[in-house]
Amino acid sequence: MTKRTCLSVILAAGEGTRMASSRPKVLHEIAGLPMVTHVGLAAKANGEGDVVLVLGRQADDVKAAVGAHLGEVETFVQSERLGTAHAVLAAREAIARRYDDVVVLFGDTPLVTSGAVARLRTALAAGAHVAVLGFRTPSPTGYGRLITEKGKLLAIREEKDCTDEERRIDFCNSGIMAMSGAHALDLLDAIGNENAKLEYYLTDAVAIAAVKGLSAIALEDDFENALGVNTRLELAEAEAIWQRRRRRQLMLAGVTMLDPATIQLSFDTEIAADVTLEPSIVFGPGVKVASGARIRAFSHLEGATVGENAEIGPFARLRPGTRLARKSKVGNFCEVKNAWVEEGAKINHLSYIGDARVGAKANIGAGTITCNYDGFGKHHTDIGAGAFIGSNSSLVAPVTIGDGAYVASGSVVTADVPSDALAFGRARQVTKEGRAARLRALKSGGR
Ligand code: UD1
Ligand code: MG
Repeated sequence: MTKRTCLSVILAAGEGTRMASSRPKVLHEIAGLPMVTHVGLAAKANGEGDVVLVLGRQADDVKAAVGAHLGEVETFVQSERLGTAHAVLAAREAIARRYDDVVVLFGDTPLVTSGAVARLRTALAAGAHVAVLGFRTPSPTGYGRLITEKGKLLAIREEKDCTDEERRIDFCNSGIMAMSGAHALDLLDAIGNENAKLEYYLTDAVAIAAVKGLSAIALEDDFENALGVNTRLELAEAEAIWQRRRRRQLMLAGVTMLDPATIQLSFDTEIAADVTLEPSIVFGPGVKVASGARIRAFSHLEGATVGENAEIGPFARLRPGTRLARKSKVGNFCEVKNAWVEEGAKINHLSYIGDARVGAKANIGAGTITCNYDGFGKHHTDIGAGAFIGSNSSLVAPVTIGDGAYVASGSVVTADVPSDALAFGRARQVTKEGRAARLRALKSGGR
């Protein structure tokens, strides 16, 4: 990459009317991360240059969403929505600092890659004054069309302003545009709003460049990197593309997926080689899975760490703060939250373990519940190494079960159990010999 200075301007002020949402469009998520944050990360990925945001409604929320991943970002507010060129000019003060390159990205184009940004900048370094990222699609409706001649980009025509012939062009504008910083303000200031939507179109910068004797070119990228999201249908399409790509990367890196199309990943899911994923698993944000683990069908994980050779599911739910050590097991219909499950421990059936430690090789019987919440606060349950909790026990926190202790089935444990002790927390059984037969005789004889 060149040593040229770069300003990336991300436009995120649009109304997003077509999303029919009370939430700003650019905050809708792909793989659990807002679209505009994906764009910010792509702009920043080359590790150089400054990123600024142009914001409209709920500006603070959008700024926070990007800031959470990029750190403090300079922002500008576009107070009226008068079009994409008008939006870029909201960042006039930053553009006037005369960067070598000014790159405009749209907050609703979440699959843009850092490689594409780098290619546009390379074109500027090679002498172009404007470089636009284009793509081809059999269904170009809604996109601006790139009008080219002998490799030169002459103009970009918005759908509504196209002639019938122009509408048939399948080479479209992704919206990502790089401009020579020395000419950017001249070009932007020359843009008017004489068009079907009476908006200031950034895309007009291309035809104006031609009039000014400056050169513009279009570089082609995959449709999959350039998809613009204006509706929920396109949001779902972008999500599907993202998921397919990431699954592919993981499989090529050694993850087995029995039915890849049913695995839902998050932007930050980390899965090591030699992990096996059975069908229909949802990864919320913040999950790491170590090598050799097997995640069985229909499990849902978020904010959880799964150790080497651990086994989860089928039908397991791991919630934030769960840490499973090597060779531990969480079986069917178990929910685990904010808990350390140490090496070799087993929570095999129908349990809720929250705000707890489960010591190494402890065995948690079917139906065990940690009663962690008393209506006011959350309390900790500590279960020692090698402890055995009998089925259908309630451990009323705060409570400690010592190493090697044994809790009888059906107990309600309200007091600490010392190491190696046996605790009963239930009524003793009473057995009346022959009483069932007598009862039966009484009932049938009475009729
Ligand atoms: C735009 C392009 C079109 C391109 C398509 C790619 C223009 C005029 N058209 O159309 O050529 O094919 O993207 O997806 O540039 N925004 C503002 N302020 C505004 C208007 C828009 O910040 O006043 C932001 C939006 O938040 C959005 C981006 O600019 O992130 C694009 O706006 P949008 O209305 O979605 O433009 P498209 O109709 O998709
Ligand atoms: Mg759009």
